[in-house]
Amino acid sequence: MSNGLEDVVAADTVLSEVDGKAGRLIIRGYTLGELAGSTTYEDLVHLLFEGFFEGLPADVGPALGAARGEVFAEVSALDTGLLDRTPIEAMRALTARLGDGDDLAIAFRLIAAPAVFTAAVVRAQAGEAPVRPDPTLGHAADILRMLRGRPANRAEVDALDTYLVTVSDHGFNASTFAARVIASTRAGLTSAVLGGISALKGPLHGGAPGPVIDMLDEIGAPSNARAWIEAALGRGDRLMGFGHRVYKVRDPRADALKGAVRRLTEGSNVMPGRLAFAEAVEAAALAILKEKKPDRPLDTNVEFYTALLLEALAFPPSAFTCVFAMGRVTGWLAHAREQLAGGRLIRPQSRYVGPMPRKAA
Ligand code: CMC
Repeated sequence: MSNGLEDVVAADTVLSEVDGKAGRLIIRGYTLGELAGSTTYEDLVHLLFEGFFEGLPADVGPALGAARGEVFAEVSALDTGLLDRTPIEAMRALTARLGDGDDLAIAFRLIAAPAVFTAAVVRAQAGEAPVRPDPTLGHAADILRMLRGRPANRAEVDALDTYLVTVSDHGFNASTFAARVIASTRAGLTSAVLGGISALKGPLHGGAPGPVIDMLDEIGAPSNARAWIEAALGRGDRLMGFGHRVYKVRDPRADALKGAVRRLTEGSNVMPGRLAFAEAVEAAALAILKEKKPDRPLDTNVEFYTALLLEALAFPPSAFTCVFAMGRVTGWLAHAREQLAGGRLIRPQSRYVGPMPRKAA
């Protein structure tokens, strides 16, 4: 048995490969470098769904746009009880209103759900009315428009496409594994996605980027970085945005997203100086982690520059994990269908280490 199932191979997949020693991510035959920055999210959906759904159109854009319009009807169920919750809890509750099913129509609605519901929840929590989706727009452009109530510019749309593609799939991460376990029981795609959202929400998985912003804000200036980081590690805290179960070197997604932050902010008036400051904090964190934990290969993971990119796109930190779900949902769905196509019920064993009954029955 391996604690945390580290290094356990639990299935074959054609969807993605995470090479932790080489720092390489392959998504269905393409390296992340080939996809990030040059692929729209719609094309990525097609890439991951091909062969797993009957009737998949070559251009998924119109069907995905229509699905955003369909799920918008559920936004009327946002009540004050839900608005008191975190955005991901409210988004998950609205997603649970979609019925279960296994076909392409429900799959498109489930991709639409985190996008439409997150924008509506964020606006409602700020006292603003939800913005109806525009099915004629690309998915990334419509997300930003629904969030802000005005169209985004090309650079912002490209940056969000880069993010959604970068996080779309990543081997047997915790949320994908959870989704596959649920799919293996034939519970349906909505159930699998709800399990994925629930696993993603934790700070050791997709909940890290909000706390990265807290860390940067508390540090405030590069000269404070060492003292702040040493104090955090001294308390036994983990530095959010660093370390990974599989990557023993730098997470390739970190640089894909750092490049997107640079393209979005350089030469513009978006967050002047923020990237340079974050780079200084990152350098200090890596140096201190090396000093304090010399036997552990702890490097930057996807969440550090996720935080910067989503901040530059004006998502509130409370909703960062929801944006992760907007991208990862396609991976969960493709994995669920792959599980249904070839997998059996996932039902491992546990070893009983509790007390034995005093009397033999
Ligand atoms: N800061 C400080 N120490 C760390 C960190 C960190 N970020 N990550 C791991 N360590 C230490 C940990 O304290 C332990 O040290 P020791 O053996 O001396 O007690 C050692 O490294 C191994 O930790 P582990 O918990 O056994 O390693 P893991 O493979 O279970 O952890 C991780 C992976 C991502 C949960 C962990 O690195 C972590 O908590 N990172 C911070 C949270 C974070 O950034 N999460 C996002 C992950 S990337 C998104 C995704 O793909 O899910």
